Parts: sequence; structure tokens; C-alpha cells
Amino acid sequence: MQKEIKDLEQQARQLETTTEERNHLFDKARQYGERFLNSLSEKPAYVDEQSMGKGVYDLPFDEKPKDFDKLLDLLHSEVDTPGLNPASGKHAGYIPGGGIYPSAIADYLAAVTNRYTGVFFSSPGAVRIENMCIRWMNDLVGYPEGAAGNLTSGGSIANLIALVVARDNSGIKAKDFNRAVIYTTRQVHHCVVKAIKFSGLQEATLRTIPMDDRFCMKADALEKQIKADKKEGLIPLTIFASAGTTDLGAVDPLDEIGAIAERHDLWFHVDAAYGGFFLLTDHGKEVMKGIEKSDSATIDPHKGLFLPYGSGALLVKDGEKLYDSQHMSANYLQDTYKATQEASPADLSPELSKHFRGLRMWLPLQLFGIQPFRAALEEKLLLTRYFYDEIQEIDGIEVGPEPELSVAFFRYVPESGSANTFNKKLVNEIHRDGRVFLSSTHIDGTVYLRLAVLNFRTHLEDVDLILSVLKEKIQQLT
Ligand SMILES: Cc1ncc(COP(=O)(O)O)c(C=O)c1O
Repeated sequence: MQKEIKDLEQQARQLETTTEERNHLFDKARQYGERFLNSLSEKPAYVDEQSMGKGVYDLPFDEKPKDFDKLLDLLHSEVDTPGLNPASGKHAGYIPGGGIYPSAIADYLAAVTNRYTGVFFSSPGAVRIENMCIRWMNDLVGYPEGAAGNLTSGGSIANLIALVVARDNSGIKAKDFNRAVIYTTRQVHHCVVKAIKFSGLQEATLRTIPMDDRFCMKADALEKQIKADKKEGLIPLTIFASAGTTDLGAVDPLDEIGAIAERHDLWFHVDAAYGGFFLLTDHGKEVMKGIEKSDSATIDPHKGLFLPYGSGALLVKDGEKLYDSQHMSANYLQDTYKATQEASPADLSPELSKHFRGLRMWLPLQLFGIQPFRAALEEKLLLTRYFYDEIQEIDGIEVGPEPELSVAFFRYVPESGSANTFNKKLVNEIHRDGRVFLSSTHIDGTVYLRLAVLNFRTHLEDVDLILSVLKEKIQQLT
């Protein structure tokens, strides 16, 4: 048996790399990253390619090792070329992502050292780093000491956990789920509707409260509806407000909603996945006044803090409520329970083993300091205002309300023919061209184009290019 073990060891040891091999891999990967970043400004924001990365399947997994150069070539042609380039400053569709470089270094370090950040006992320093990130965001939102949270993969999962915590905190029993009511607007992100399904609350009533002409929830209509529902014997459960809707960037009146939630003893959640980090700016603080009244909030560092994808956060004002909802113990983990100085992420989220997400947030905040983040966010707000003013100089353009944050929407109304058909063609032409990327949406049957400025690489020259591409395409289509 020993001989067999030794033979297998010989083969298994291929999984360990030598310093020489590591240097080889790292140098090639670093050069690849440099080539990618240094050519970004010339690269299109969108590549409309027929094959759509199909070449990935040309290299199936097999028993044999493959050459790293060949794999990088495939990454370049099949992965990093077709489709949307979220790293580009000319990407202003959907909600743009970022990808600041120190986060990549942090991910590298986190993966090499592979610290176990599920429980405090196993990696106390790493858990402190994560808790420090959570505390910083709790302070930003204005939650008191005793608040808690967890770092999620994104906003969808943060919203899902929030709904589960609200459900558990209400003490509602499954037999009454069909009497529960969740209040929001039609502009809430669709992941909230998914969360309702995943949390077992699909039989609950989802009330979409009317909005004003800026697409913000009407607080008086909300209160009226809550009262009517109570009268009918329904159970108002939670309000899901938005601080920056995805489609239009609208911020619900959080201060008034917070007061209503308090009067009616409802869990008040704010989805600030997109808008939350604008709290670093004076304007953001002003428009999101009252966010501190909420019981929980979603905020996505992979949006407003420009981190690479895979970074969301749920914040909960009363940390014990989060713990009560998410904590579970296991016999085999009994040794870990003796380390109690800090909360363990596994006690505050559905995850146990997880990526050390905090490092990719902690490192850039420490390396750069907070100031450049604030400046970048202020710049994005102004760029959106600038775009909103400039686009109105084009004859035939109709705009939505003045942007609250960094989303503006607009459409071209042709002298004849269907405006919807025209605007769909316009967005398709922009995608085919690829130099810049915008996305479209529809509101009550009307098609609009959206500009969403949130990539840290988007600056004045990019917005000017977006404006000139729009002018050019409108001219071509009219
Ligand atoms: C307001 C809002 N909530 C939730 C989400 C979903 O977040 P994620 O894509 O990180 O899951 C988004 C995504 O754009 C969003 O804008």
C-alpha cells in the first residue's frame, strides 16, 4: 500500500508549483493584465461578434496539461473580446461595474493564502478586516453601534437575506404568509421579486405603491395602503424602498417612509445597491436623508465603490436580529465557538466557507484613502448633469426628469413614425458600432435610452464621445 501511496503522491505533487513555475505563471498573467489595461482606451465598449465566445469549447478538459500561453490566447479572443467590456470607461449602460486594480491584487493574495473567513476562530485578522468594512459602511449609512452585516456576492443576495431577516423578525408563521404584504414600487429591482419567491413568501401580496412624476414612491399613498391592508386583516410585513433605482436612478422619500415604518411597526429595507456609496458626497447625503431610519440596507461595493464584480453587502441596524435569523451551530465546529471577541461572518449570513471578500475592499480603501472615491462619485454626478444638459441641445430629444444620481434617460422623437421603433433601432446601432455602450428600457410602454455613469474610468472625454456617437447615429437614422 505504501508504494501505491507514494506513486499517487508523485502524481498529486504536480498540483504544487515551484517558485520558477509560479514566477512564470505570474509574469505571464501580469503581462496579460498590463496589455489589457494599456489598450483599454482604444478598445470598444461593446463587441457584437457572431461567434460569441464559442471557441471556449475548442479546448475541452482532458487528462493532459495545457500550455498557459495557449490558454491566455483563448481568454483574449473568446472571453475578453466578445460582448460588453465593463472595464471600459465608455460603458454607460445598465449599472456599470468598475474593477480597481488593488482589488485584483487583494484577490490574488486572498487566494494564495486562502484564509478561512467563515469563522473568527480560524482567521481572526481576516474576519476583523471584514468586520471593519461592514462597520465603515454601517457608519456611512448612519447606523448605531450594534449594527451588523455581511459581505455578499452582490445586491441580489443582500436583498434576499434582508427579506429573510424581516420575515424572521416579524415572527409570522408560514400559515399566514398569504396574508403578508410587502410594499415597494414598480421600479424596485427585479431581484426583490425573486427574493420573495426564494424566501417562501410567493403567496404574500406585493403592493406596488404609486410613484410621483420623478418615479419616487408616494409616501402618503403608502401609508393609506398600509392602513387599508390592516383594516382588511392583512399583515403588513416590510417596505422595500430604493435609494437609486436601476432603471432611472430615483430615490424614494426615505425620511417620510422611515417615519411611516416606525408608526406602523414595519421592517424598513432600503435597496441602496446602486446609490448607496453616493452617501460619500454631500448631494448623496441630502437625497438619501432618512436612510438611517431603515432597519436594513443593501449597498454594493462592486457598483459605487468601483470594486470588481462579486462584492455586495447587507447592513442591519440591529445586529442581533441578523444573528437570530442567520445563526446555526454544528457539532463539528464546536472548537471554533470559544473565540468570541468578534462576530463570525457565518453567524450573520447563509454562507459558511466563502471567499475572503473583505480584502478586495480593505486594500484599495487603505492604499488610496477615501478621498479619491468621493471625488470620483462627485465627478459621476456632475458628468450625468452635464450629459443631461447637452443631450437636450439635440433637436428631437426628449428627456426624463433631472437626474437624482448618475442615471439619465431620454429618447428621440422622430417627426414621423413610431418613436419606440426608432429608439430600439438607435440602441441597436449603438451596440453594433460598439465605441460606446448605452442600454435601453421601457416605461409604461415607451422605449427610452439610459445613460448610467458609474465606471471609475468614465470622464468628460467619454461622455463627449457618447454625445457625438448619439448625434451621429440619430443623423444616420433620420
Ligand atoms: C438597485 C439594485 N438592486 C439590486 C441589484 C442587483 O445587484 P447584483 O447584480 O449585484 O446582484 C441591482 C443591480 O444592478 C440594482 O441596481
